[in-house]
Amino acid sequence: MINRINNLVKSVHIALTLIGLPYPVCSLETCKAISSSARSLCATSSTIMPSLLHVKARCPLYPGSDTRRFPVPDDKVKWETEWPEYSPVNYTAPIVLKRPVWADPDIGSFTPRFNSLDGSVDRRSHVGEYRVKNGRPLNPQGRTGVIGQGLLGRWGPNHAADPIVTRWKRDSAGRRVIHATSKLPLLQFVSIKRKDCGEWAIPGGMVDPGELVSLTLQREFSEEALNSLEASPQEKEKILERITKLFNSSGLQVYKGYVDDPRNTDNSWMETVAVNFHDETGNSVSELPLQAGDDAGQVSWIDVDSAQPLYASHSHFLEVVVKTRHAHW
Ligand SMILES: *[C@@H]1O[C@H](CO)[C@@H](O)[C@H](O)[C@H]1NC(C)=O
Ligand SMILES: *[C@@H]1O[C@H](CO)[C@@H](O)[C@H](O)[C@H]1NC(C)=O
Repeated sequence: MINRINNLVKSVHIALTLIGLPYPVCSLETCKAISSSARSLCATSSTIMPSLLHVKARCPLYPGSDTRRFPVPDDKVKWETEWPEYSPVNYTAPIVLKRPVWADPDIGSFTPRFNSLDGSVDRRSHVGEYRVKNGRPLNPQGRTGVIGQGLLGRWGPNHAADPIVTRWKRDSAGRRVIHATSKLPLLQFVSIKRKDCGEWAIPGGMVDPGELVSLTLQREFSEEALNSLEASPQEKEKILERITKLFNSSGLQVYKGYVDDPRNTDNSWMETVAVNFHDETGNSVSELPLQAGDDAGQVSWIDVDSAQPLYASHSHFLEVVVKTRHAHW
């Protein structure tokens, strides 16, 4: 069991190192770039907009680089709109060009099978069949001003999973805490303070090749939660058991689809599955002894509230959880 935890932590550590870029993107510059030069464009709307235009995917400065996207106005986003003048920048980040295990080779030097399970790599999109033009997959949401892989490993969809673990907020007597104005009970969720932006986020990550999304959800969560704990191996083992049990329940699927992400390009984009695992009675993972976090990298129980500034699309996910569970927002 301890071995298992060690392996888990180790493999996740490797995964995080590999994923370090693909998932928690932003370096300090990115955050700044996104929050200053492009605040009006990038910070205003929700990132999950299946039927709306992607916005972050058109942020002027590509994350972690000096690459400027070819500007794409709203009325030119859709591929169906003819636009002969469109001249996107070709950008694949140096780290991806080094072709680590999580990155595909260049198109031409391999022939991926798009829209299907390609060996252990799932190149199917959650949003349906995407088009492939000149051997390159086309972003289902439309133009981004950049071609190539950017910071992403896969041509086509790059699959992530976001586990949202919640409990009811309780007072010292164990009663549910009711919000003064809304008169609705308060939820809390497990959140990690990002090292780059300092924003609270759901501890998600990339789905490994051949890995079931259900396992990714559990793996990402376990690793973040366990790594943050000052606990003995015996305690960790007990905690892991509880986590496994909770994640073994089916969970509430909150979102499945395209993510409007600043790393997206015309040929590579983020997709995610967000699932809520809720400890209704308070006797499952509610007692996870997470630190009251203020330091970056810390994992904590955070009150769910619409006023809480959250990373990207996570606010939208929580809103769905709240509505379903009739909690305060
Ligand atoms: C884009 O750049 C890469 C090198 O970064 C090159 O191998 C590739 O052929 C270029 N693609 C196009 C369409 O120009
Ligand atoms: C998880 O579920 C499977 C079957 O659905 C069961 O065999 C297994 O024992 C469960 N594990 C835990 C830790 O509850």
